[in-house]
Amino acid sequence: MGTELDYLSEYPPEPSSLIPLLQRTQERFGYLPREVLEEIAKYVGVPLSRVYGVATFYAQFRFEPLGKYVIKVCHGTACHVNGAVNISQALTEELGIEEGQTTEDGLVTLERVACLGCCSLAPVIMINDKVFGKLTPDKVRKLIRKLKEGKLDV
Ligand code: FES
Repeated sequence: MGTELDYLSEYPPEPSSLIPLLQRTQERFGYLPREVLEEIAKYVGVPLSRVYGVATFYAQFRFEPLGKYVIKVCHGTACHVNGAVNISQALTEELGIEEGQTTEDGLVTLERVACLGCCSLAPVIMINDKVFGKLTPDKVRKLIRKLKEGKLDV
């Protein structure tokens, strides 16, 4: 990754730089690529297993790139009461992945979130920055089909 890691030298080469470097790496790449973690481990002088140990402890870090579309499924109280579980199920069936995963073609990442702040529209999902509310499993399936055909404006 060479010059892409130009920011390493901005941090002292010691174990206490580990978390700031992980944060910076995620900002830069959107996730933590393995090759970069290897570089960081060498730079701060800790074993790679320790780097992974720390990174997996914090939910903010991811180890795969995000999909082109990120679907956030709300599991807050209002959405839960209004059938979020069925919405999730329709999504996982339609996409063939579980929440927290990305489709193999890199098109969609499915994420589970707490309240998206539009409870009156429950159950709600967000696709990238766009909110879709008052959903039913059927509506969700149609949305995903449109998304796959490139016909959804998000
Ligand atoms: S609980 Fe889902 S938007 Fe608030």
